[in-house]
Amino acid sequence: MIHPILRMGEPRLLRIAQPVDAFDTPELHALVADMFETMHDANGAGLAAPQIGVDRRLVIFGFAADAQRSDDDPVPETVLLNPVIEKLEVEEQDGWEGCLSVPGMRGLVPRAERIRYRGFDPFGKPIDRIATGFHARVVQHECDHLDGILYPMRVRDFTHFGFTEELFPGQDIVDD
Ligand code: NI
Repeated sequence: MIHPILRMGEPRLLRIAQPVDAFDTPELHALVADMFETMHDANGAGLAAPQIGVDRRLVIFGFAADAQRSDDDPVPETVLLNPVIEKLEVEEQDGWEGCLSVPGMRGLVPRAERIRYRGFDPFGKPIDRIATGFHARVVQHECDHLDGILYPMRVRDFTHFGFTEELFPGQDIVDD
């Protein structure tokens, strides 16, 4: 089932989400299926449970290489519960981000270029990966949603924040 995606300003996007405390349940598998359906319908690269109003520490992300994301390396399709991120580089890199909860806009956001992330899949199996570049950026963006942080809150230079159509005229850029 496709869920409506909450937009910035909705108070539920600002909550600190609760840990997932039961793995491999029918409810959890149904939620994950709904999240993928919702993310694919919106052409997103990632989605966090709070974006559909679910107060749990659960994110999904990933996509195969395709024409719309020709500049981005593919990111493995992943369901990540109760994630923990460790930054492996002090220095941050600026990159453009969008968000399904902030439709039609882009902003330049500093993120760690290299991270280690850990968590669990829906069956309770541990996930432990090193990620760089766009993969690392997506994970940091999605996990921020679990702490009530939307990417505009991380924009440092608001001359690099605005409407996608004005920032990148003539380019067909999706919201993420
Ligand atoms: Ni987002």
